[in-house]
Amino acid sequence: MAERKEKFYITTPIYYTNGLPHIGHTYTTVVADVLRRYKKMRGYDVVMTTGTDEHGVNVERAAKKAEIPESEFVARMAEAWRALWDELGLTADEFVRTTDLTHVRTVQWLFKLCKENGYVYKGHYTGQYCIYDNAYVNDAKPGDPCPDCGRPTETVTEENYFFKLSAFQKPLLDFYKKYPEFIQPETRKNEIVSFVEGGLKDLSITRTTIRWGIPVPGEEPHVFYVWFDALTAYLSAVGGPEYEKRGMWPADVHLVGKDIIRFHTVYWPAFLMAAMLPLPKQVWAHGWFLMDAAKMSKSKGNVVLPRPIAHMLGMDALRYFLLREVVFGQDGNFSYDALVTRYNSDLANGLGNLASRTAAMLEKNFAGKVPKPGTALPQDNALAKEAQNAIGEVLERYDRFEFARALEAIWGVVAAADKYLTTEQPWALGNSPDEESRKATILWTTAELLRIVTVLAHPVLPESTTKVWRLLGQSTSIGATELDGLRWGQLAPGLSLGKFQALFPRVEKSEAIERIEAMANEELSPRPAAAPTATPAASAPVTGTGAVPAAAPAEKIGIEDFTKVEMRVGQVKTAERIVGADKLLKLTVDIGTEIRQICAGIAQYYEPESLIGRKVVVVVNLAPRKLRGVESNGMIVAASVGPEGRPVLAGFHEDVEVGARLK
Ligand code: MSP
Repeated sequence: MAERKEKFYITTPIYYTNGLPHIGHTYTTVVADVLRRYKKMRGYDVVMTTGTDEHGVNVERAAKKAEIPESEFVARMAEAWRALWDELGLTADEFVRTTDLTHVRTVQWLFKLCKENGYVYKGHYTGQYCIYDNAYVNDAKPGDPCPDCGRPTETVTEENYFFKLSAFQKPLLDFYKKYPEFIQPETRKNEIVSFVEGGLKDLSITRTTIRWGIPVPGEEPHVFYVWFDALTAYLSAVGGPEYEKRGMWPADVHLVGKDIIRFHTVYWPAFLMAAMLPLPKQVWAHGWFLMDAAKMSKSKGNVVLPRPIAHMLGMDALRYFLLREVVFGQDGNFSYDALVTRYNSDLANGLGNLASRTAAMLEKNFAGKVPKPGTALPQDNALAKEAQNAIGEVLERYDRFEFARALEAIWGVVAAADKYLTTEQPWALGNSPDEESRKATILWTTAELLRIVTVLAHPVLPESTTKVWRLLGQSTSIGATELDGLRWGQLAPGLSLGKFQALFPRVEKSEAIERIEAMANEELSPRPAAAPTATPAASAPVTGTGAVPAAAPAEKIGIEDFTKVEMRVGQVKTAERIVGADKLLKLTVDIGTEIRQICAGIAQYYEPESLIGRKVVVVVNLAPRKLRGVESNGMIVAASVGPEGRPVLAGFHEDVEVGARLK
């Protein structure tokens, strides 16, 4: 009987359904996907799970605003998350929703176990409560206003179930000591250990003031409160109460952002200890991707969306950038400039160029076949050794979640191959038998190196390495290649090369950034859909705004929709070009009540000087945005004319007062 492969269970957090994925969420999911592919190539039986966290007051409110039942709201949002992950090629083995029946049963079962073991009791919870928003305000003191509506909060006491977290101080500290690898990276571990050493308070795990939650059986109106519900999803995803049948629990690694590490390394192991269930093996906390030095958030208007990047540069480019740019575990800045720079240098000029050069030379000299190498010279052996050594080094770095360093090591080999070709100059060799043989050796060596690099980079660059794999005439699936069997010298002479497919076409930086930004802006505030046909929720457009995807876009809008757009007459005060952005002009515009800075994509059609003093139509109530790093607070209205969409500014034939509203 075949031996069962060793299992490896990876999780991403389950994401809140009050918004849609930005680069931060994408980061965690990309890392999980990379690990999933990597572990498979190391021979593990891998399961990766992701999902959506669907209960709570925020959902109650959002559903009310959208005038649909909560269940419909979360169904649409979950579908939108799932569809976007699929589109980005980030397909988990299980997608758990906290409204799934198995999950509901698992939460109730975990609670029962904790209660039976004596770790749950009824008590009273007192907090500041906003009666208008029906929600507690965390950390508020008596007299503090509600941060959402500004009205005074009230001190409210309600009956809750409490979890005896205080009983787990010692067991947790012992556990961290016994399993020093449990919390990663090391700096986070120190943080958590000192937090637990400081003493643990019991935790309120149910609420009677929330409706939209999992009921505590026989104890209605109690529903489970956020983290008891959410964390349990990791167990529900692999069988819940019947987890032993599936054989995947405990998780091998929970991937999380640093903001939620405490829940995962203190609450979660304590819940499991109380229920006497196996504990996860590791929690790995990554840092944040920052935009303009701040954590991304919709309200700050600084979110970066994954889809426009994937459309413009390919998903592999985004994956590569996220893992290469920042040391896993630390914070890092996201910038389009750095993204496109890396794309051009490492992907287009690096791996892409090596693959296309190799293919072209093999085509020209060996009729598109892998040649049989002649006698290896010391420089060939040196390159072979470098590639062979890289295999061990790269695997070790992947194992330690040192993704940036793994990629650095792979790209070190790519650079060595470029140097080798430059020195050996196979193109300068003639047609004598000796020279033919030398050419064959050089090109076989380069192709073999490309094969090794391709396999090693596959977990991070699944799409492009699959193309190179086919190019190298391989008929197997690259994802099924066993990394443990990878050695220098396995490329069989005589194989016919596959068709060359462009991998990473070079892009012009400012143009690429402008196109990505334009797509992102469109996604953040989509134009009203023109198509009147009913669209099923599953394929409804996903917007980055966090607005619930429409079930059926309306054909006509009512006057109340139109009046939401506030347009006013403005007068241009100053206008200048923006360095590095060929299409944009930076304007200051007087809108009657204030002077606004607004960017307009009209630089190719209007000279800045010609605009000064001109009266224009301004949409004044758009959320501010950054375009090429410049804040734009409003939008100038223009007609889009002809096939190339030439902008023609809207204006007036009569004199109009600055600040007048358009109705
Ligand atoms: N629902 C909870 C998790 C429950 S897990 C049992 C939650 N959801 S979340 O949608 O707000 O965030 C999910 C993850 O995205 C977190 O790990 C968070 O750190 C990560 N990120 C959100 N913004 C981020 C960045 N800007 N950068 C990197 N990751 C960040 O929390």
